[in-house]
Amino acid sequence: MNSDLDELKTITLEIVNPERSLIDLIPQATALRDLFERRANFRIDHERSIAAGETRLSSGLAISPTLAAMCLRESFRTLAFIRGLNQAINDAMAMRPGRPVRVLYAGCGPYALLAVPLMTVFPREQLVFTLLEVHPESLDRALTLIDSFGLAHCLDKALCADATRYQIPADSKPDVIVSETMAVCLHNEPQVSIARRLLVQAPDARMVPQSVSVEVCLLNEAREHVFMPADHVGEIPLPERDRIHLGKIFELDAASIRSWENVEGGRLPAGSVKIPSPLESRCQPHLLTRIIVYGKHCLQDYDCSLTAPQRLSGKPTFAGGETLRFHYKLGPHPELAYEATS
Ligand SMILES: C[S@@+](CC[C@H](N)C(=O)[O-])C[C@H]1O[C@@H](n2cnc3c(N)ncnc32)[C@H](O)[C@@H]1O
Repeated sequence: MNSDLDELKTITLEIVNPERSLIDLIPQATALRDLFERRANFRIDHERSIAAGETRLSSGLAISPTLAAMCLRESFRTLAFIRGLNQAINDAMAMRPGRPVRVLYAGCGPYALLAVPLMTVFPREQLVFTLLEVHPESLDRALTLIDSFGLAHCLDKALCADATRYQIPADSKPDVIVSETMAVCLHNEPQVSIARRLLVQAPDARMVPQSVSVEVCLLNEAREHVFMPADHVGEIPLPERDRIHLGKIFELDAASIRSWENVEGGRLPAGSVKIPSPLESRCQPHLLTRIIVYGKHCLQDYDCSLTAPQRLSGKPTFAGGETLRFHYKLGPHPELAYEATS
């Protein structure tokens, strides 16, 4: 047993402990990052763009191996996804499938970060992973890391493939599908197409994330953050945020994927909102992304880059009274697009 494997198991058991909160687990997220980056000998090559090696797929951007490795540094994201995936696996195990629970991990990146920690706490008789990754360099690095921990026996398959074209073998449908191939507002990366492609083939699988939703909110940026000297924190009450919620416009979850079954072409339906009139200039329309990773494991506003409120693209100005009709545009540059009518 190598000592790094022992350390990884200790860190993982703390991360999945339901008594612990995300904020409480920052030291474990840091320890996980240090361990993986040391073992993978991760270095940022300053001679090269960190985006070098990315691929614009027909379903969105597959980020570069370097940027995918850096996802590890988003502590809350990483913790919430490992905790949520652990919960989904436990729920699938409770159904007693009579064989190891199968997890299909689409877009595993260079660390197979969401899987490797959990490989240390479940034996192969209980859990096996299939990894899909479109970038050979990332997949090779993930497999080298898994091998170096002596965890290769936890893999069923590892394939260099585009998950939006993957055909799940009929005799090994996954119990859990996990993919973190998204950016904020489900913009630019292929999460929607990947989830749709895989869940249609394995409709009974638990999906991680379970739900990603986007809502429109009028928000006063000046009241979102308060800057105060560190020695005054806690002395001054924080002002309340100044927001008007206009409604959810899009959700990626099992129910919506089912509802898109007969949708063909390059757009998925999304909701509409009406901007109140008159619109006070202090509040501008923003999109808020909420992620239910699984069960009670959630990512809220500002927890990570995926949930930071975003101004509508182009930062349009509205007088008030306009209706914004959204749709989700599929293709190489996926995004929530809208038309405004007065
Ligand atoms: C945001 S990174 C996340 C990496 C890792 N899962 C994590 O959570 O840290 C997304 C990864 O998915 C891969 N990817 C994106 N689209 C893909 C696709 N259609 N099929 C397979 N892999 C894909 C990218 O190459 C990248 O390695």
